[in-house]
Amino acid sequence: MCGIVGYVGYKQALPILIEGLKRLEYRGYDSAGVVLFESAGLTGIKSAGKINRLEEILEGRNYDSKHGIAHTRWATHGEPTDLNAHPHFDCKNEIALVHNGIIENYRALKVLLEKKGHRIVTDTDTEILVHLIEQHYEGDLTEAVRAALIRVEGTYGIAVICAHEPGKIVAARQGSPLVLGHGDGENFIASDVSAILSHTKRVVYLNEGEIATVTADRYDITTTEKLNITPQIEEISWTLDMIEKGGFDHFMLKEIHEQPITLGNAIRGRLNFDEGIPRLNGLNLQYDQLRQVERIIITACGTSWHAALIGEYMIEELARIPVEVEYASEFRYRSPIIRDNDLLFVISQSGETADTLAAIREAKKKGATVLGICNVVGSSIARETDGGVYIHAGPEIGVASTKAFTSQIMVLAQIAVLLGRMRHLSAQQGIDLLRALQRIPDQVEQILQTESQVKAIAEEYYKSNNFLYLGRGINFPVALEGALKLKEISYIHAEGYPAAEMKHGPIALIDQNMPVVFIALKDSVHDKVLSNIAEVKARNGRLIAIASIGDNEISERVNHVVQIPHTLDIFTPLLSIIPLQLLAYHVAVLRGCHIDQPRNLAKSVTVE
Ligand code: G6P
Repeated sequence: MCGIVGYVGYKQALPILIEGLKRLEYRGYDSAGVVLFESAGLTGIKSAGKINRLEEILEGRNYDSKHGIAHTRWATHGEPTDLNAHPHFDCKNEIALVHNGIIENYRALKVLLEKKGHRIVTDTDTEILVHLIEQHYEGDLTEAVRAALIRVEGTYGIAVICAHEPGKIVAARQGSPLVLGHGDGENFIASDVSAILSHTKRVVYLNEGEIATVTADRYDITTTEKLNITPQIEEISWTLDMIEKGGFDHFMLKEIHEQPITLGNAIRGRLNFDEGIPRLNGLNLQYDQLRQVERIIITACGTSWHAALIGEYMIEELARIPVEVEYASEFRYRSPIIRDNDLLFVISQSGETADTLAAIREAKKKGATVLGICNVVGSSIARETDGGVYIHAGPEIGVASTKAFTSQIMVLAQIAVLLGRMRHLSAQQGIDLLRALQRIPDQVEQILQTESQVKAIAEEYYKSNNFLYLGRGINFPVALEGALKLKEISYIHAEGYPAAEMKHGPIALIDQNMPVVFIALKDSVHDKVLSNIAEVKARNGRLIAIASIGDNEISERVNHVVQIPHTLDIFTPLLSIIPLQLLAYHVAVLRGCHIDQPRNLAKSVTVE
């Protein structure tokens, strides 16, 4: 979603801003713009489309400015046009603003401002805010921003500059992340650390309700109520090569191939083979507190929601605790029943998903203990939860989540073992489960060797208009995730279903043009899945099976097989999803799709 970059220092600002915007491209956007502080005033350049369109407009022009802000916009209010792109300006072109989030009371504010003579020219909610700042401007930008924000309802991460205040950026946060990058004689702001990582690793995360006044040599942080805040500088552990493609054609492919490492990171130091109890100290819960848990609710969005479904199977099976999984967007708007001894988990790669954050707040209001399973350290969700487990997958840039998904499952598996050990699982059972998890990274490596086989399948079916994904038991959510991956990046209509449900509807779709992907492992439901395969075959469907190594029988029943190694049934999703990620990737490549930034999607959905 929308991205912000700002620079003030001694270097030319424009290349730094453009580089920063490019680092944020992965978040998804549809227009881009910059504004530079120059001696003659503020110069704004913006355009619908990708950043290279902006670069074409800028080509050949020479900007000396050492101070500016920039933005990538993901349209919410108003179409993605040149005019609606950020930055937005006040009536006199003296104040410029970029904004992530949504100003919810913009209509009421617009009426008020127009009555006072402001000329509003775009369809955006953002433009209202810059006019509101103008309305309160009396020579001090920070104070004008503060006065305006008091009147605003909604969410924002903003950066503002003013033609009368050289070398100053004012930034503020409420519901949309912002980070300050600490440099030497220069400072940065960004909505995501990856935008400034090539310049500094020392950052200050702005908290909700904070306003920062940033110059080349200092930054002062206050709250909207004018309390002074002492900045906490944190060191980013991510390196630059972690956010670069490293020889792969796309981030998504790089991230698929990183999974043996990222899965290793998700268990590193956590598998305790003496007692068969994973060490998950971040949960901040004692064993007796874990024993008291009577019900678990897991809430999340998108791929993280699929991981939650898999977590449900794992926890119910290993710990025998009832689990409910709910979309965060639904959870936040009902009146969820939260009882004593309920434990709520939220899962989020980015840690910034608006619906998931709102679900946390709703659950906390009802007195729940909320734990997070997050990737991004220091993210809003990581900070608002009572404890949790980081998945340590490193930056995930491809919009279609892959490595974060498997790492989320790996963490859920350890939580399930931990809770099981607090109940009926013996030490030996715990140890055996952890040993199985320890083998997973190597097994994923082995599956990645099947890529050429998966690519050949993609070549046969990439022109299909529909795909069906079927699985049973714990591999039903894998079918959902396989279908989601395909539709996200190839725009092929794909549905995931529990294999046995097929006969209650989707079977009507099956003919010789319909590829049906079965997760058909040698597990407890194998025979049942074979019957479902027969039902598809009888209707001439094209069958692709993800099967267990050594299951030679299945080759006779289907058109294509990808074999994967054995693990415990309960951990099979960690393996069965890998060929499905590769299949989606290769189909999308063959269809010439934009793999890392699929249309209309955003990596981090910070609006409702
Ligand atoms: C967006 C992304 C998905 C992601 C979902 C939830 O829709 O495109 O890949 O699964 O948000 O994001 P989160 O960061 O909370 O896991």
